[in-house]
Amino acid sequence: MTPMTILDRFRLDGQIALVSGAARGLGWEMARALAEAGARVILHGRTDTAILPRAAELAGRGLAADTISFDMGDAAATERAMDTVLARHGHIDILLNNVGERDRRSVQRITPEDFDRLVSVDLGAVYRLIKRVMPGMIERRHGRIVCVTSIVDQLAANGSPSYTAAKGGLAALTRALAAELGPHNITCNAIAPGFFATETNSTMTQGESGARRARRVPLNRWADPGEIAGAALLLASPAGGYINGHTLVVDGGISATYDML
Ligand SMILES: NC(=O)c1ccc[n+]([C@@H]2O[C@H](COP(=O)([O-])OP(=O)(O)OC[C@H]3O[C@@H](n4cnc5c(N)ncnc54)[C@H](OP(=O)(O)O)[C@@H]3O)[C@@H](O)[C@H]2O)c1
Repeated sequence: MTPMTILDRFRLDGQIALVSGAARGLGWEMARALAEAGARVILHGRTDTAILPRAAELAGRGLAADTISFDMGDAAATERAMDTVLARHGHIDILLNNVGERDRRSVQRITPEDFDRLVSVDLGAVYRLIKRVMPGMIERRHGRIVCVTSIVDQLAANGSPSYTAAKGGLAALTRALAAELGPHNITCNAIAPGFFATETNSTMTQGESGARRARRVPLNRWADPGEIAGAALLLASPAGGYINGHTLVVDGGISATYDML
């Protein structure tokens, strides 16, 4: 038998991956990468209208894709959707928790209800998905969980208190799960993106403020959304099998540096 090469260890043939928020932005880039590496990818979207064209795009390239739609802020809908996913696929090998909502209102301006809602989508819903896929992973003694946080999981800027709190909590949850699930051969890691030029950020990349943000990055530019995919594939594949409880920062060097005033 030919020995496995390092490139073989990035393959995901026969694996089932669920990617939340896969209709656009970083979620779509990561979902496509996992599919290209051989996984059968279940693309999650808020609605069928958003997600079905993405699945068709992958299927058109001969890649395996399925879809599921639900609002991550609706706990009952999430449970029902996970019933469907597990009935259809039996188990999940890779769970990539990408959905993240933002709210840039200050502590003074955000309402307690909106604070709770954002934390429930960005952190609580992740916990709910993990809880549903965990039993199958434990039974099969195999699983990869990847959570998308942000550089705000360690560093705060003025504004976005609910988002900052949720992402910090998600990084902590990642470490707690690494400790709890490691003995079952399940890894749990996070990816902390910096400044990515996704559709959501389109206005922020423009003008002098967009250029100023780019200058804050040692690489002197915003990231292309596709530049997140390598990190996701590493953490999801056998190549990253001994990485556990880690947050992989993908920020062009922002969080490793500061400006000399
Ligand atoms: N882009 C960056 O620079 C950056 C930096 C740091 C961290 N991140 C994190 O990376 C992840 C992806 O970022 P992105 O820029 O690609 O975001 P995005 O373009 O806003 O995409 C997020 C995806 O999640 C979906 N989504 C949001 N709330 C949902 C909900 N309640 N129910 C179901 N789906 C929901 C969105 O669906 P709709 O299309 O229906 O809204 C969208 O498809 C997020 O967790 C974000 O916090 C991004």
